[in-house]
Amino acid sequence: MKKRIGIVTSGGDAPGMNPLIRYLTRALLENGYDVVGFKSGFKGLANNIQYPLTYKNVSGLLKVGGTILGSSRYPEFKENKSVREKVRDVLSSENIFALVVVGGDGSMKGAHALSLLGVRTIVIPGSIDNDIYGTDQTLGMHTALSTIIDAVDKIKDTASSHDRTFIIEVMGHRSGFLAVASAIATGAEGVFIPEVETDVEELSKRLRKRYEEGRRNSIIIVAEGKASAYDVAKILKEKDIGYEIRISVLGHIQRGGIPVFHDRMLAFRFAMGTLKALSQNTFNVLVGTKGNDIVFTPLEVATKKRKTLSEFLINSVYTFKWEV
Ligand code: F6P
Repeated sequence: MKKRIGIVTSGGDAPGMNPLIRYLTRALLENGYDVVGFKSGFKGLANNIQYPLTYKNVSGLLKVGGTILGSSRYPEFKENKSVREKVRDVLSSENIFALVVVGGDGSMKGAHALSLLGVRTIVIPGSIDNDIYGTDQTLGMHTALSTIIDAVDKIKDTASSHDRTFIIEVMGHRSGFLAVASAIATGAEGVFIPEVETDVEELSKRLRKRYEEGRRNSIIIVAEGKASAYDVAKILKEKDIGYEIRISVLGHIQRGGIPVFHDRMLAFRFAMGTLKALSQNTFNVLVGTKGNDIVFTPLEVATKKRKTLSEFLINSVYTFKWEV
């Protein structure tokens, strides 16, 4: 009898989840497995709401943002063991050999909790935040960065017309990754992230100097996990930087859009990694990337450790001469 694999996307969606569903479904079918999707994250799973995944109905997904399976935040799953047991019972009654969970940190913890109830799980890191231990990259981060860069470039146009400083808040949960990576890529003048203290006095002086030199815009990127753009604006308004200040909170636009090349490629690599884990009977692991390699980290480890920002990015905040 064919082994039946379940796929669920959970937590905040991320561009690249649809390509992943497409690559993984076809790879599984071609390798002799049966596949079924569950709708709306662990919530749909608890209620056994299925989505048939066939070779044909995953067609056209490479260029589609979001997730056709839908997703949800489902605190009851974390809070009540009885809900987790319900999910285990659904999987067992549906004869699911292993469950592939695509999601962020919370979803990985959910998968780990299921594995403790005897469910075979494989987790694929899907989150724009790139904050999951055991992988260099998470599915969706590349597209989110492209969206942020595009937005900042556009904001710069209007900032220049009006001689303004813009404080731009980006997502990232508790991680400063999206903020610092996009700050580098857009030549921002300053960045606020949870991992590093920003010297506000030094930044204010630089902004003032830019203003006096007639530099027509300044961009400050703030990670939501550090502060809100409104808090940072309040601080800078007291510093006489010269520029008028405006705020832009990019919000959920960062989670949408057509997956870019690197997220499609990542989706393909994660799908191949999942197939490898299945063929080796490696379960209860996170499938991650380490450079050019695919690596497996036990959920027992990945759920307990916190991913830190790379030394390179941390140092960039300290030593990089933010464009003046
Ligand atoms: O984890 C992804 C993420 O987009 C975070 O960057 C953000 O803090 C959070 O999800 C927003 O969640 P929600 O869509 O539930 O408001």
